[in-house]
Amino acid sequence: MLIQLWALLQVQVPGVPERRIQDIFKPMATPAEAEKNVALLTFAITGAIFIAVAGLLIYTIVRFRRNPRDTSNQEPPQIYGSNQIEAAWTVIPILIVFVLIGVSARVIAAVENAGPPPATLKVTLIGHQWWWEVYYPDYNVRTANEIHVPASPDGKTATYLTLESVDVIHSFWVPELAGKTDLIPNRQNFAWIDPREPGVYIGNCAEYCGTQHAKMYLRVIAQTPEDFNRWAAAQQQPQQIRGNMQQAKAVFESLACVNCHAVRGTSAAGSFGPDLTHLRTRQTLASGALVNDEQDLRNWINDPQDAKPGCLMPSMKLTNDELTQVVSYLQALN
Ligand code: CUA
Repeated sequence: MLIQLWALLQVQVPGVPERRIQDIFKPMATPAEAEKNVALLTFAITGAIFIAVAGLLIYTIVRFRRNPRDTSNQEPPQIYGSNQIEAAWTVIPILIVFVLIGVSARVIAAVENAGPPPATLKVTLIGHQWWWEVYYPDYNVRTANEIHVPASPDGKTATYLTLESVDVIHSFWVPELAGKTDLIPNRQNFAWIDPREPGVYIGNCAEYCGTQHAKMYLRVIAQTPEDFNRWAAAQQQPQQIRGNMQQAKAVFESLACVNCHAVRGTSAAGSFGPDLTHLRTRQTLASGALVNDEQDLRNWINDPQDAKPGCLMPSMKLTNDELTQVVSYLQALN
């Protein structure tokens, strides 16, 4: 398990630094920055309260501890009912809570009402148990688990995400880019991100959605606009297989895989599972749970229930030869 996790952390795209440890205190996009400031204000206020209360408590314990020479066993004088004190410790916390509510509401409204800048990429993110479908309506590109977006060093580009779900409630959360927004069945939610630097930002589903919730990773791959356009143009192409894959392709198309998975430009047209058209261009498999290399792909297809118990892909009980053919075909889907 640890070895697997370590291997995953090694997945790198040349020229795109991966931000391996996500830190909400190092925001890399406008919504995350605004939310960090609210978090700091909340920590400052609650920290001051903690220090005051703990300080008074410690002072009281030390100052009024039992005196060993006092053998009278008498209780100290008891004081009941002070309207001034009770009013003070009721009104002050109410005022503090209203300050925090006011600041939070203002930031939430500012993030949610921000109008899209002229250069806006639209992406529809659809939650599934347990993976992310990523659709680019302006490009008619469909992929999974890895959202390629242009970086926005000048703050003039943004990606607007329409969030939907086909089954249960999931939650989009990429800590350095934006706070959590739920993906809810029969409803559309919205979130937006404008990563300041190219890089891979790791996210995870943040709403318990079933047994494999913890392995529902998300990668936001922010690229320069040129690199993003090149990626999008390549994704728009139907599948063109290099090399002699006719036999492997025929094996794949003869199996039930095609009922759930699509490879554009071939007879595989299922829509239940991730679109595999350009599978080789992805860094990971199984929603970020495995590295996209030959060994992991083979193990994943051979027994999906081993890597992600409970996932909806069954083991197809392929023969060794079929498995080899399917893996070599999928590895050729550039
Ligand atoms: Cu999807 Cu938790």
